[in-house]
Amino acid sequence: MNKLLVSLLLTLGVAGTAQAAATALVGDAAAGQAKTAVCGACHGPDGNSMAPNFPKLAGQGDRYLLKQLHEIKDGKRQVLEMTGLLTNLNDQDLADIAAYYSSQKNSVGAADPALVARGEALFRGGDLQKGMPACTGCHSPDGQGNAAAGFPHLGGQHASYIEKQLTDFREGERTNDGDSMIMRGIAAKLSNKDIKALASYIQGLH
Ligand code: HEC
Ligand code: HEC
Repeated sequence: MNKLLVSLLLTLGVAGTAQAAATALVGDAAAGQAKTAVCGACHGPDGNSMAPNFPKLAGQGDRYLLKQLHEIKDGKRQVLEMTGLLTNLNDQDLADIAAYYSSQKNSVGAADPALVARGEALFRGGDLQKGMPACTGCHSPDGQGNAAAGFPHLGGQHASYIEKQLTDFREGERTNDGDSMIMRGIAAKLSNKDIKALASYIQGLH
């Protein structure tokens, strides 16, 4: 995005906050790679982490990544494992890192065959009785998400990580889904069994 467009957005108030202005910075993927040496230990060198509790970042939308990086840095989303790691990174560094991971290809896992039917039904159909919308509306049928809207890519993500996020949203441990509380509202309607089935289905989704 060029400077003119950035200042136009600022004038229009579209990017009124400091954080939104930072979102308008252009990330440089090559520069970003050089800034991720310390991250690779947990998230994998290309963002495909091996450990199921560390999220894969490869192929994630850069708008979503940048939002998480700012919020983890500011403590709005607490990630103890990352304490202090983002402190010395400025807005440009974070934009570069987001550009790097979003340019990588994510690996896909496998779903547990015993959980697929329930997981797929919830993901694609929601739960009418509980008034829960289908996940596909925002995260897309193949789990790619919607990068421009900031709806995260889920397909292929580790089931343990997904399970923890849905549980954290439900229990109010993760609260950075905005004033609309989209994910907290949805997770409130999910049982532990639902969460397990969804997480397993998502791990194999592509
Ligand atoms: C010691 C392990 C560790 C290191 C090192 C680490 N992270 Fe993380 N990171 C985590 C964990 C664990 C989570 C998920 C926490 C949770 O369950 O919510 C996470 C979450 C994230 C997320 C959010 C992903 C999502 O899908 O919402 C991003 C983005 C991220 N890390 C980027 C980085 C970057 C960039 C670095 C290097 C500067 C880094 N991490 C270093 C462990 C680590
Ligand atoms: C109305 C749109 C919408 C619907 C419907 C929706 N989500 Fe989300 N979801 C979001 C947004 C937006 C975020 C990012 C929140 C943030 O910025 O931290 C998100 C985040 C997530 C995350 C965290 C991803 C990560 O990498 O940490 C998971 C897991 C998730 N959603 C699962 C689901 C599941 C499963 C369903 C269906 C039961 C669902 N979502 C339905 C909008 C939606």
